[in-house]
Amino acid sequence: MLEKIHHLREVLSAELSAAKSRGDLEAFRVKYLGRKGILAQLFDELRGIATEDKPAAGKALNEFRSFVQGEFEKQQAHLAGQETPASSVADISLPGRVRPAGTKHPITQTMEELKRIFARMGFTIAAGPDIEDDYHNFTALNFPPQHPARDMQDTFFVSKNILLRTHTSPVQIRVMENQPPPVRVIMPGRVYRNEAVSARSHVIFHQLEGLYVDKNVTMSELKGTLVAFAKQYYGSSVQYKFRPTFFPFTEPSADMYISCFVCGQKGCPICKYNGWLEILGSGMVHPHVLKNVGYDPEVSTGYAFGMGIERMALLRYGIDDIRLYFENDLRFLKQF
Ligand code: PHE
Repeated sequence: MLEKIHHLREVLSAELSAAKSRGDLEAFRVKYLGRKGILAQLFDELRGIATEDKPAAGKALNEFRSFVQGEFEKQQAHLAGQETPASSVADISLPGRVRPAGTKHPITQTMEELKRIFARMGFTIAAGPDIEDDYHNFTALNFPPQHPARDMQDTFFVSKNILLRTHTSPVQIRVMENQPPPVRVIMPGRVYRNEAVSARSHVIFHQLEGLYVDKNVTMSELKGTLVAFAKQYYGSSVQYKFRPTFFPFTEPSADMYISCFVCGQKGCPICKYNGWLEILGSGMVHPHVLKNVGYDPEVSTGYAFGMGIERMALLRYGIDDIRLYFENDLRFLKQF
């Protein structure tokens, strides 16, 4: 009995200091002090001991029991002391912790505002895949087989006929393939071009495409819609002009320019000293495109337009380097 107690005294301290949680401590208590624990067993054993040895053994056992109880309580107090500040006492006089608030990326903010403006004019929103096939990105949009955009130099090809879309115009095709006229949609999305990355161009950027096809849609409706849009986005005093241009999928085609609000048309680096900023490409949907999606160009006409989102935001906020949008530098993002 005395030897047993001596041995237990040694192992017990190590066990107790290894008890780091309430659970550990409770396991210790059950093992030693519980009703069927080691101490209870020793007291049972005491009964079987020779009468002359009993007093000494009983005394040693009683001492041992108080020792275990004492050690247990010490460790309990120790653990409780560690827990107290974190979990059970709150200093309600402390000032609150300020959590840094996130903001939406300037591209997201610009996109949302553009969507709001066009939604108010009756446009719904559609989306298409970033990985496109040659047919939707080029052929259905009336690109001739030898068009330079079909070159490996300008477009990221995944395989011979699969590529990363170079504009959001293929979504026009997908929308029209899936529904008869009338359609009035905007199609926001990411586009890809194989270009040298610089302050002015990037391999990834975003576009917002617009399409309206119905009976008797005219060029003056295209103009009216885009002017209404520009006035809402850039302010009602904005000046504008349309200049003829070429796209394979629209005829006639026009680029839209607005007066440079950075310099008030006096000339500055943003407008390259000519007082005007190009903001989008547009035109009347080419009859070939309507035919390709199964629409009858004798019955339906329509207009389409496309704008670069980075450019819209760049003009709006005076950002001078397009690469900033993709670097996720907080010093840049926090300004919006
Ligand atoms: N897809 C053209 C581009 O990427 C923009 C555009 C869209 C022009 C729709 C006309 C009509 O430059």
